[in-house]
Amino acid sequence: MKQRLSQVFWRFRDGRRLFSGSSSSGGGGPVSWPTVALVASVGAAAVVYMNVTKQKKKAEAASKVEGFGKPMLGGPWALVDSRGVPTSSEDFKGGYTLIYFGFTFCPDICPTELVKMSRVTTLIEQRNAKAKLTPIFITLDPYRDSCAQVGAYVKDFHPKMVGLTGTPAQIGKAAKKFRVYFAEVDHEEGQDDYLVDHSIVMYLMGPDGEFIDFFTQFATANEVADKIEKIMKSRE
Ligand code: NI
Repeated sequence: MKQRLSQVFWRFRDGRRLFSGSSSSGGGGPVSWPTVALVASVGAAAVVYMNVTKQKKKAEAASKVEGFGKPMLGGPWALVDSRGVPTSSEDFKGGYTLIYFGFTFCPDICPTELVKMSRVTTLIEQRNAKAKLTPIFITLDPYRDSCAQVGAYVKDFHPKMVGLTGTPAQIGKAAKKFRVYFAEVDHEEGQDDYLVDHSIVMYLMGPDGEFIDFFTQFATANEVADKIEKIMKSRE
């Protein structure tokens, strides 16, 4: 069953146009109505499948359904922070994290998403003083995004935001764990003016480093904050 579910999820996210924004468009990404329809239909299919499963396995429903929507995402990663200090997923245990992958030279989508992530962080702070939520930006562009570069970049968004970079191998591994797609566009050797096409997803991870939920660019800051608040309350 787990297998089946993660396939649904994979197809959902692997619809590259769905989550990946070609920043070169300068517009707001290549989202179109057919894409929205695809999201809706895949979502509907998932719901139907879930209902069928519920009926079939009434007896063991609770735990099975719970596990159903939780694909294996995330897991241990090791990167480097803006001071050059090795930083891993272990360092954030005990609190929630909101993780976003992008690159600092992104002309439009990343800044928009990071403004949103910062807004979500502030909303959670305002609503629940005890809540521990750390927004994390992980670059997909290690060639240009040095420690200092990611450090300076995240400061513009939120004082709590952590900026991480690493070797191409470290970043590749972390991205793979979150099934983040990324590819440099027309990067010629020795040339620093290129874009990185990448997935646009925010991941909510729990205090044990476990994957809880993800948010696409269609979700507003308020919607994301509402959902996170609800999740935090239900787990208190
Ligand atoms: Ni971007």
